[in-house]
Amino acid sequence: MDGNGRWARRRGMPRSVGHKAGADNLESMCDYLNSIGVKALTVYAFSTENWSRPQDEVDALMDLLYGYLLTVEEKFKNRNMKLKISGDTSAFSEKIRGAIAHAEEVTAPGDGMVLNIALNYGGRSEITRAARLAAEAVKEGKITPDDIDEDYIGGLMYTADLPEVDLIIRPSGEQRLSNFLLWQAAYAELWYSDICWPDFKEKDMERAIIDYQNRDRRFGNV
Ligand code: IPE
Ligand code: MG
Repeated sequence: MDGNGRWARRRGMPRSVGHKAGADNLESMCDYLNSIGVKALTVYAFSTENWSRPQDEVDALMDLLYGYLLTVEEKFKNRNMKLKISGDTSAFSEKIRGAIAHAEEVTAPGDGMVLNIALNYGGRSEITRAARLAAEAVKEGKITPDDIDEDYIGGLMYTADLPEVDLIIRPSGEQRLSNFLLWQAAYAELWYSDICWPDFKEKDMERAIIDYQNRDRRFGNV
């Protein structure tokens, strides 16, 4: 969900206003994607690197996150959607961790789209964590090193219970992954847009999806 800050600054407003606009846009985007049958949407909301932003911006993002989490139960239930958080949530306040646990629990029965929010998430840290978990399993005698294959490591990713990533969209003109879903991106299609996230609307998403549908995915085959 990139470009919130620039979107706001271009309008002479504080960056936090852009983050709010971005959060509002996520809501309508979820409605749209859920309605067309998308099974899972992962959004990058806060990276392991975002802590180094000015404290007031980090605080504003945490307030926004907490406020958002409080709305999940009511909003998701009507839409049959399910919330999932990916990342090291131990770094968040107790208040936020409680709200995450509650939101995940009450939406767990939903069989519509899963909204997976990457929070304090980094692709490298996710892979490192998987390596550590695998090493611990070997040490405890639960598996041998030979048991560690791609399926096993994939099963240790936060996204283990989600379908394969088909399409990664980065708005706001940047053309890089910035530590997002590094493992999962192996065969994902990429789509870049110059539009900042708060302005990235249904028609833009539809363009990306139609383009995706017309690609020839060979997965290394011919
Ligand atoms: C939102 O956009 C992404 C978050 C980390 C919350 P940015 O805050 O990165 O906006 P730009 O890239 O500075 O415009
Ligand atoms: Mg950015």
